[in-house]
Amino acid sequence: MTHTLLVLSLMIANRSSAVAADRILIGEVGSLTGAEATFGDSTRKGIDLAITDINAKGGVKGKKLEVKVYDDQGKPEEAATAMTRLIAQDKVTLVLGEVASSRSLAMAPIAERNKIPMITPSSTNPRVTKDGKKVRDFVFRVCFIDPFQGTVMAKFTRKNLKLSKVAILRDVGNDYSMGLADYFTAKFKELGGTIVADESYKAGDQDFKAQLTSLKGKKPEAVFIPGYYTDVALIARQARELNMKQPLLGGDGWESAKLYEIGGSALDNSYFSNHYSTDDPNPKIQNFVKRYKNTYGEVPDSMSALAYDAAMIAAEAMTKAKDLSGEAIRQILASTKGFKGVTGIINIDQDHNAVKPAVVLRIQDKKPHYVTTISP
Ligand code: PHE
Repeated sequence: MTHTLLVLSLMIANRSSAVAADRILIGEVGSLTGAEATFGDSTRKGIDLAITDINAKGGVKGKKLEVKVYDDQGKPEEAATAMTRLIAQDKVTLVLGEVASSRSLAMAPIAERNKIPMITPSSTNPRVTKDGKKVRDFVFRVCFIDPFQGTVMAKFTRKNLKLSKVAILRDVGNDYSMGLADYFTAKFKELGGTIVADESYKAGDQDFKAQLTSLKGKKPEAVFIPGYYTDVALIARQARELNMKQPLLGGDGWESAKLYEIGGSALDNSYFSNHYSTDDPNPKIQNFVKRYKNTYGEVPDSMSALAYDAAMIAAEAMTKAKDLSGEAIRQILASTKGFKGVTGIINIDQDHNAVKPAVVLRIQDKKPHYVTTISP
């Protein structure tokens, strides 16, 4: 075989005919616009910082990493289209994303069908990596899952806050919200608590007063709202307008600087679970916070940190894999143990989830403050 032919067939074997030989193209899908734009924006920045670090150290297998990014506008159907385009047209080696579980759920079957590894930095619904009883071979995450997150908040509410009557307000169109509400409910009841009401809304609603009035009538000691920040901030304000003084409780979907901008003091004395806290003195975290601030002029939220970790794990797996085929990379990803991430030590379990502790944060004066860490 002539040299040219050999190179050509190697390129085809690597599915990289559309990609320059000196770089590896990976894909990213995120909500860069829409009601959850900070999710996509923070993830983008975290990945960018990681790619800069990886390339500064020589890249992967002697090649520079490059990222092709698509904005899904916060819509699952757009996330699916972007995933297909990344694989079929851009011929990426691996995909990072999405943040929201509903959108990762739209992408996961496409990753699976095409045997292209997908790492979601922050989708926490169990079904993202597991379709019924079947683990999706090519889909991974670097965060914990909602059965754990729901347990964390249920335990915290019962044991730390010592509350026994909670109302729930969930987002019906959101897989994450529905799942987390159910996991919280199950654990809270198991711990002797009562769910006095369970109401719902749809993302993008502007008026939550009917549901809040109904919840208020049941006299809950706290309201659990496992939604995303834009809706949650509006709900908090309207709850205070109705003179509801209870602490509000939530999950990682609250994580955004916009929560405080929109919600203001309505969120005082509320609590949510999260992936990490920038209050943590751990040098790995403080170093990351400092570098991120220097680069972007803002404090990294948990999506930035998880995105950084996801990109680093992807690079490590591509480096260790015997070649850049989806199969070779996914095998290394599946055996990831003891990876020292910004968000903690990452061990990938048999269901392709990272087993990690969660932190609980208390909001006061438009800022989250570290309260405690709860381990699996
Ligand atoms: N865990 C959320 C989901 O699965 C997304 C999210 C992660 C939001 C981290 C904020 C911070 O939908």
